Amino acid sequence: MESNIKQALKEQYKTAENLNTRGNLHSYNTNKADWDNWCFSHMQIPNKAKMLELGCGTGDLWYKNRKYLKDDWDITLSDSSAKMLEITKETLGQIDYSFTYKEINAQDIPYGNECFDVVIARHMLYLVPDIEKALSEIKRVLIEGGTLYVTTNAHDSMSELNVLVKKFDPKMGLHNNGMCDRFDMESGLSLLKRYFSKVKMDILQGKIIINDAEPIVAYKASTVRGNPILIGDKRRQFKEYLEDYIKKNGSISITTKACVFKAHR
Ligand SMILES: C[S@@+](CC[C@H](N)C(=O)[O-])C[C@H]1O[C@@H](n2cnc3c(N)ncnc32)[C@H](O)[C@@H]1O
Repeated sequence: MESNIKQALKEQYKTAENLNTRGNLHSYNTNKADWDNWCFSHMQIPNKAKMLELGCGTGDLWYKNRKYLKDDWDITLSDSSAKMLEITKETLGQIDYSFTYKEINAQDIPYGNECFDVVIARHMLYLVPDIEKALSEIKRVLIEGGTLYVTTNAHDSMSELNVLVKKFDPKMGLHNNGMCDRFDMESGLSLLKRYFSKVKMDILQGKIIINDAEPIVAYKASTVRGNPILIGDKRRQFKEYLEDYIKKNGSISITTKACVFKAHR
């Protein structure tokens, strides 16, 4: 991974702003299933379990599913961004439950072999410079028979938006799903199968229907690759392009497709 991308990634997760901006576009989804609840409902966690979440972000998985927390769970929440962990601590501080927090880079997990029953890595593996190193680390810290839950997007998720971006200006190179393409539903499945014995996948599909250009522009501008490109005149012109499309077509419709993998060690 180029060093400028590594730097941009650091900037990207210094605050929760970029994550929240992208969450805002998803709030226009006509499939009203809550992503965090949906993910949790696809995790079969034993009544007694030691768990590690990598790249926990703002800790939404646990906040939104707080009513299902069990006394015999020992949960460590981790992220490579100290700021993200701070936000998570603050959010989960509102819950009467004790979590352990630790700054961890998924490529180098500071625990011994076979000490977790469950590892969770949602929408984060594609950001790790050496994905295979992270997978071998996860496998190392999982007990035999332990489970890894991973989420990511399908390669063709948001394809209608990417078509529009390409028509607007293919030279921007933003007509794809950016970093996510490094470990998406399709490439992620084959990679996971190389490390884990049994891999199962569940898919959540939806459709964003929106007649306001700003959340779409903000979404693309909030991404690691879009950040330095969609600024100033370029941002304004892209917004005008989308407004024109909405005027002619009434709305923009964008298919979303994400999955949760369940992989057994
Ligand atoms: C797209 S966010 C996802 C957050 C959360 N898992 C969710 O699904 O809402 C990616 C998170 O992974 C973290 N991250 C990026 N690279 C990482 C790495 N190498 N090791 C651990 N965490 C990382 C970021 O700081 C960020 O909080």
